[in-house]
Amino acid sequence: MAAPATSGVPAAHHLTRVPGLLYGGDYNPEQWPEEVWAEDVVLMRQAGVNLVTVGVFAWGRIQPGPERWEFDWLDRLLELLHGHGVAVDLATATASPPAWLVRAHPEVLPVTADGVRLEFGSRQHYCPSSPVYRAAAVRLARALAQRYAGHPALALWHVHNEYGDHVTECFCAESAADFRRWLARRYGSVERLNQAWGTAAWSQQYGELAEVEPPRRAPGPVNPTQQLDWRRFCSDALLACHRAERAVLTELSPGVPVTTNFMSMSKPLDYWRWAEEEDLVSDDAYPDPADPQTQVRAALNYDLMRSLKGGAPWLLLEQAPSAVSWRAVNLPKTPAQRRLWALQAVARGSDGVLSFQWRASRAGTEKFHSAMLPHRGTDSRGWRETVRFGAELARLGSVAGGRSRAETAIVLDWESWWALELDEHPSARMRWSTLLLPWYTALHRRAVAVDFVRPGTELGGYRAVLAPNLYLLRPETAQWLSEFTAQGGQLMCGPFSGVVDGHDQVHPGGAPGPLRELLGVVVDECWPLADGATVPVELRDGDGTLAATLWSEWLECEAAVPVARYAEGPLAGRPAVTRHANAWYLGCHLGADTGAVLDLLLAAAGVAPVLTVPEEVEATVRTAPDGRDHLFLLNHGHRAAQVALPDHWRGARDLLTGTAQADRLTLGPLDAAVLLHPRTAT
Ligand code: GAL
Repeated sequence: MAAPATSGVPAAHHLTRVPGLLYGGDYNPEQWPEEVWAEDVVLMRQAGVNLVTVGVFAWGRIQPGPERWEFDWLDRLLELLHGHGVAVDLATATASPPAWLVRAHPEVLPVTADGVRLEFGSRQHYCPSSPVYRAAAVRLARALAQRYAGHPALALWHVHNEYGDHVTECFCAESAADFRRWLARRYGSVERLNQAWGTAAWSQQYGELAEVEPPRRAPGPVNPTQQLDWRRFCSDALLACHRAERAVLTELSPGVPVTTNFMSMSKPLDYWRWAEEEDLVSDDAYPDPADPQTQVRAALNYDLMRSLKGGAPWLLLEQAPSAVSWRAVNLPKTPAQRRLWALQAVARGSDGVLSFQWRASRAGTEKFHSAMLPHRGTDSRGWRETVRFGAELARLGSVAGGRSRAETAIVLDWESWWALELDEHPSARMRWSTLLLPWYTALHRRAVAVDFVRPGTELGGYRAVLAPNLYLLRPETAQWLSEFTAQGGQLMCGPFSGVVDGHDQVHPGGAPGPLRELLGVVVDECWPLADGATVPVELRDGDGTLAATLWSEWLECEAAVPVARYAEGPLAGRPAVTRHANAWYLGCHLGADTGAVLDLLLAAAGVAPVLTVPEEVEATVRTAPDGRDHLFLLNHGHRAAQVALPDHWRGARDLLTGTAQADRLTLGPLDAAVLLHPRTAT
């Protein structure tokens, strides 16, 4: 709700204590002579930069030999930045071990599933379980923390860089030993492991834990539970690296927030567990200008980042000012896309916009990656956009710390994702992102605010919970969902859910396992559809025909009633979508038609959109800590769009243009507005 007007001076960022929204990027001064730094800081100031990430890949420069430390340059740099009012997100620099370490200890290099040891010469070349690597990384983090803990420029610690990028797993002997220790803690005995892994199949029994190895390349598919445990272990092994560095930082510089940059919704790491270790969730997001749905995927990622710490503001720590350099074809962003997509992150909870990188590199792999300061220098369009956007962002300072409210939640469970995509399933097309995207897209189109939740999250504030897929489902998750519906919430589960338990073993009686009573259905047999095939599905009461693709199920209704039936094919007449009280089940994949069924659920739940807007307009509200509401309106369409403002938004001031709005607002193509609630405008 709107609160009385306040001074309008942006509050300091709640964690970094930098005023207003954060603006800046990765700064790699080690690639440049010091004369250039002097120019950099002046230009940073011109652009409104207030935070830069320093030292991400500077291990070799900081510690050029086992007992050689070179901090002088970093001392000078931090002073220079501080003197120019630029705060520092200081990296622990541990993502790229130097050559001397690798040559002295080749065992720190990671090994692939085929047994190939990866060479030095790129980055992220380390084995997460290597005691040598871990000790060296912690030593470096300690040295940095000892030196800079009290430095006035230090606003944020940046641990490592993108854990799980390039190397998500290592199959060396050290990792194998670490895996066995992990398994011993999990199972306690080889008998329990045999049971959990179902090793009676294919004669895979182990006589002792010492016989177990990682799921290296084998003649055929490797035991699925072994693979699932391996994924759990790999996420944990990287997390152990992170924890070790974090512990040193919090010990030596208490009060300085710690983050590590996530990679949007990516599979290898269970970010729910990781987020518990972060003071601030930060994300690297690289929407692809070649993808017409890119803004939907981006919104999804941003909603996830906001959700990982229960709605707390997060930080877009990397994005590309224009093109990246790592796709086969790297399309630049148009000036309008650059601005709109950056604002989109703020609209969905980011307290700033940082880029990779500040100054375009002249050498190295990333020399064709765009930067805030392009190769052309200040006499370039890119630079002018950098300056212009910095000024715009500064106008939005009052939103810093703002939170959003959603009545709808989507369940995301990394374990289930990992298990869903194991080998030899009825259809290899059932991928988590394929299943999730249509559900999210439908909500995005309808401007329905949505959070992500993990099993067990308090669901008190939600009216609707969606579970596009819960292939792996524990009984306690079913209980949690059932309590939600018992309290009046509407639940919709997607196909191929409730299939296996935490060991990837099929629930007795088959799917939907522990959800059977709640959903009132039982799956007789999975009926995946051939590639390209579609089956018409008719909604009850002649409400229309939808198209199922990828997947269908021979479904028997027990307590449930059919909401839609297959109209053709071997399942003609059988239920495709069902409802039992307020628990709905989709036994098929409805792709682009998912929205038609979601509409029924949203209506039953009484979920309202943020605002009634044209389809291509994204609308979100962020409420600042002082109660001031900010309405973000983003037109992703290539035509102008009109938005009718409800009464309580009339007269609101657009912070981007400074103009007050009447009852109707016209957004140009790819244009945006950020309205400050009229009763709180200053
Ligand atoms: C990220 C990485 C950065 C930079 C960027 C380029 O994944 O963290 O260091 O490489 O990609 O897009």
